[in-house]
Amino acid sequence: MCGIVGYLGHRQAVPIVVAGLKRLEYRGYDSVGIAMIGDGKVKAIKTAGKVAEIEALVAADRGAASVCIGHTRWATHGEPSDVNAHPHLDCHNHIAVIHNGIIENYSVLKKKLVDSGHFFRSSTDTEVLAHLIEELSRWSKGLEEAVRQALQQVQGTYGVVVISDREPDTLIAARHGSPLVIGHGEGEYYIASDASAIAEHTRRVSYLDDGELAVITRQGMRAKTLGDVETTKSIQELAFDLARIERGGYDHFMLKEIYEQPETIRDAMRGRLLAADGEVKLGGLEHVRDRLVGARRIILVGCGTSWHAALVGEYMIEHIAKSPVEVEYASEFRYRSPVLSANDVVFLISQSGETADTLAAMREAKSKGAAALGIVNVVGSTIARESEGGVYIHAGPEIGVASTKAFTSQLTVLALIALYLARARGISSEDCRVLAQELQSLPTKVSYLLQVSGRVKELASEFKDARNFLYLGRGANYPVALEGALKLKEVSYIHAEGYPAAEMKHGPIALIDENMPVVFLAPKDALYDKVVNNIHEVRARRGRIIAVANEDDREIEQIAEFVLRVPRTYGFFGPIINVIPLQLLAYYIAIARGVDVDQPRNLAKSVTVE
Ligand code: F6R
Repeated sequence: MCGIVGYLGHRQAVPIVVAGLKRLEYRGYDSVGIAMIGDGKVKAIKTAGKVAEIEALVAADRGAASVCIGHTRWATHGEPSDVNAHPHLDCHNHIAVIHNGIIENYSVLKKKLVDSGHFFRSSTDTEVLAHLIEELSRWSKGLEEAVRQALQQVQGTYGVVVISDREPDTLIAARHGSPLVIGHGEGEYYIASDASAIAEHTRRVSYLDDGELAVITRQGMRAKTLGDVETTKSIQELAFDLARIERGGYDHFMLKEIYEQPETIRDAMRGRLLAADGEVKLGGLEHVRDRLVGARRIILVGCGTSWHAALVGEYMIEHIAKSPVEVEYASEFRYRSPVLSANDVVFLISQSGETADTLAAMREAKSKGAAALGIVNVVGSTIARESEGGVYIHAGPEIGVASTKAFTSQLTVLALIALYLARARGISSEDCRVLAQELQSLPTKVSYLLQVSGRVKELASEFKDARNFLYLGRGANYPVALEGALKLKEVSYIHAEGYPAAEMKHGPIALIDENMPVVFLAPKDALYDKVVNNIHEVRARRGRIIAVANEDDREIEQIAEFVLRVPRTYGFFGPIINVIPLQLLAYYIAIARGVDVDQPRNLAKSVTVE
C-alpha cells in the first residue's frame, strides 16, 4: 500500500529517494516524508499531501547526505497529517523508521513505552517501532540487534527500514508480509517496496523473504533470519521496460493503460497460443498438468477486480473445459476454514502478487495440500515466488490505481487455461483451433474498438452529474457489470451497483426512475433475448438505458437511449472486449467531474494490509 525507498552509497541520496517516491506514489499518496543522515544527525522532512510537496521542501537544500530513506503513505492508523507522515523518530531523533503494514499489538507496546518515559508525537502504529528500537538500543550491542529484538516483540505485518545516526553507514531492512526488494549497484544499495522505484538505477535485485532482516553497509549486504541465522540471497536480473512506467503522452496512466490493451492482450497470449494447431502451451502448468486435469475442483481466488476476473474465469473454464470451478473472495476464503485436499487446485489471481488476503489464501491452500498456482502480473512478487507454478499475465507495470489492462490480461490467461484444460480433457484440436483463432483475433478487435470509441466522451458529459448508476449483465457478462460499476465508483465517486440482469426484478428494480442510468451488457450471445426483456422492464419504468451492443445489432437502437458499439466475438471471450467501453466511461466521467483518476481518494494500489 504505502511506498518505501532507501539509498546508501556514494551519491546525493535525497534526489534518488524523492525520484523513487514519485514512481511509487500510486501505492499511497496521503502523506510523504524522508529522513537522511547529514552532518552526523538524522534529519527528517515530512508533510501531508503528495510527493510534489516534499519535492518543493527539499528543492532548496538537497544536502550532501549519501544515506536517505523515504515513504509515501496510505493511512491505516492515524489520519493523514504532517505528524503522522513517515519517517517516525525516537524521543531524541537518533533513529528513523519507515514502515508498510500494521503493528497489531501497538497499543500494548505503546503503553509500556509511555510508562517508561517515551514521548510519542503521532497517533500511528509505526512510531512504536522507533521508540522500541530506542529502548532496546540501551541494552543491545548495536542497531541490528535492537531492530531484531524489537521485531521479535511485534505482532502484525511489516516491511520496515531503519537508520540511526549512531551507525550512519547502515540501513537495516526487514520484512514480514510487506514486500521489499534490494537493488545492488556499484558500491551502492537501493531498497524499495516495488522494483519500479529503483529500476532506473539497477537491474540487479534480491528479494527479502518473510522473517528476514538485511543489514546493508557500504561493504555489502548480509541477510539473516530474525533468529540471527545467516541466509543466502541470490541476485536476479530484473526485466523492466522503463517506458512502461512513463505516461507517454497520455494525460493519465489509466487512459494509457486502457489504450495499451491490444498490445497487453497480445502479450498474454504470445508464445502460448498456437492457434493454427489448436494447441495451448503453458509451461508454468506443465508440472501440475495431471493434477489440474483430474482436479476434484478448481478454485479461483482474488480480490476486487481480480475477483471479477475469477468470476469470468468460472464461466469460461466450466463451459469450455467442463471442469468444476468455484470462485472465492480471498479475504473470506482464508478465514472460512475451507475444506481442501490434494485433489483441489487453487489459482490465486493478483495483479500485484502482494495482496495480503490473496497471499494468505495461497498459504492456507498450500498448508492443506492443495496445489496453489498464481495468475500474477508482477514478476518476482511474493505470490509468484511462493506459488507452486502458474501463469504470468505479462501486462507490464500497471500504475493507474484502477486496474484496467491487468483485468483483460487476466481474462486472456483464464481463456488460455480453459483451452489448455479443454484440450487435455479431450476436445478435438479442430474445435480448439476455432476458439484459439477467435482468441487470437481479439487484439485487432480491441484496437478497432479503441479507435471508434469517441461516443463515450459524449455519454460521459451527459451523465457526469448522475448520483447513481446500475450495471446489468448476464452470464459471463455479469462480472463485467460488476467491474464496470467498480471502475465508476473508484474514479468518479458516483455510487454504482452491478447485478445479474435477471436479479433486478428481485429488488433493485425499485430504484429505477427517470434519473437512473442503467448500463446493459447486451452482446448478441446466447442470452441476448433475455437481456432485451430486462431492458424493456427498465424502459417501462423510465430508466435511462445505455447498452453495450454489437455493431450489427439494429434492434437495440429502438430500445436504448445510447448504444456503445463493440465488435462481435465468441460469447465467453466477450468480456475481454465488452469491459473496455465501461473503463472508458468511468475514465471520462471522472475527468468531467475533475477527479485525479490516477490517484483517486482513499485508494492505493497493492493492498498489503488486511
Ligand atoms: C480495482 C483494483 C482492486 C484490485 C484488488 C486486488 O480497480 O485495482 O480492486 O483489483 O485490490 O489487487 P491485486 O490484483 O493486486 O491482488
